[in-house]
Amino acid sequence: MQPSDIIDLFKTYVIANYTRYPVCLTRGEGSYIWDTEGTKYLDFFPGWGCGLLGHCPPKVVKAVQEQVARLIHVPNTWYVESQGLLAKELSIRTEFAGKCFFCNSGTEANEAAIKLARLNGAGTGPNGGNRYKIITMFDSFHGRTMGALTATAQPKYHQGVGPMLPGFAYAPFGDLDAVAKLIDAETIAVMVEPVQGEGGVNLPPAGYLEGLRELCDRHKMLLICDEVQSGMGRTGKWYAHQHWKVKPDIVTLAKALGGGVAVGGLIAKPEVGEKLKPGTHAATFGGNPIACAAALATIQTIEEENLLERVQTLGERFRARFTALKDKTPLIREVRVKGAMIGIQLATDGVPIVQGCLKRQLLINCTHGTVIRLLPAMNLSDAEADEGMNILEEVLLGERGA
Ligand SMILES: Cc1ncc(COP(=O)(O)O)c(C=O)c1O
Repeated sequence: MQPSDIIDLFKTYVIANYTRYPVCLTRGEGSYIWDTEGTKYLDFFPGWGCGLLGHCPPKVVKAVQEQVARLIHVPNTWYVESQGLLAKELSIRTEFAGKCFFCNSGTEANEAAIKLARLNGAGTGPNGGNRYKIITMFDSFHGRTMGALTATAQPKYHQGVGPMLPGFAYAPFGDLDAVAKLIDAETIAVMVEPVQGEGGVNLPPAGYLEGLRELCDRHKMLLICDEVQSGMGRTGKWYAHQHWKVKPDIVTLAKALGGGVAVGGLIAKPEVGEKLKPGTHAATFGGNPIACAAALATIQTIEEENLLERVQTLGERFRARFTALKDKTPLIREVRVKGAMIGIQLATDGVPIVQGCLKRQLLINCTHGTVIRLLPAMNLSDAEADEGMNILEEVLLGERGA
């Protein structure tokens, strides 16, 4: 089909809830992707953060191909080996011997975490009532379903869909005093992205995550780390919170977990997770054999190719280059990097920069209006990193993407 025919299909049959660029993609390999006309793009934002190993990572492709030919789906009324093995691989990488629940996306993982927190708070409040309130942070992003959306403390996403779920309170990211002031006798949890992603690649100030842990311990509350974007090694540790030596009670995952295949989940301390009993929560496709095979192959690839180490040197390469660039242009205000989570805070609208890069066949993202966000594959080579950074530099120093 011609690109114009594909776009016409969308105009007629697909609800226009996304802003799409007029490019029809058809094939991907590593950090490159091709459109229907054969144009090749370098992708610094593969799959909105799902392509942690780039496009079509060979071991994930093979695992899915083998699994799909053997067994596509069975519900959670039966046992399947791959779900058990995946839970083990995720658990042994925590420091709290976590137990897992599986679903299909980040928002579902966070819904499960919200329910699990409330189930833990049931009957523990004043006069035997429930503790159900959850504190989250401004500029967070936790998902689009009503619970996760209420947890997402960005008013623009709440517009027109209220009333929101009761029981959420919001504090500025990085402000421990503000969190402390919001805690009351009905508060059961604090939920935080260790590194805020969609909110602009915001790094936690020193002592912040440890301080949240301390507050949670003091008030017998749960600490939930939303690692949907930062988890699975993206920052150089399996879970980003491990940079700060904090042990959360619940960790949520999705995006990169399946190397591009849809899968989400949470890992909870066993004594916390046990409140999800039969009948309290479920997901029909959760932990299906294809998703679990893909996730196992993703973990295997990261291990075998030493990508946790690689991602740290990759992050430093980006940091060095963009920090040097900051001195050459007032357009860059700040560079924020944690492994392969890279944010360039601009002094201006980032959309023309994204468009300028697209014209030069580099795919990047702009979030929060003024932050260039890059979530490159962990296995991006130095040459590929430089190729993309040359383009970005040219656009930033040049005609600002015009
Ligand atoms: C930190 C975080 N949590 C949750 C979500 C929601 O994930 P999904 O789009 O898979 O529902 C996202 C998506 O960007 C995210 O970045």
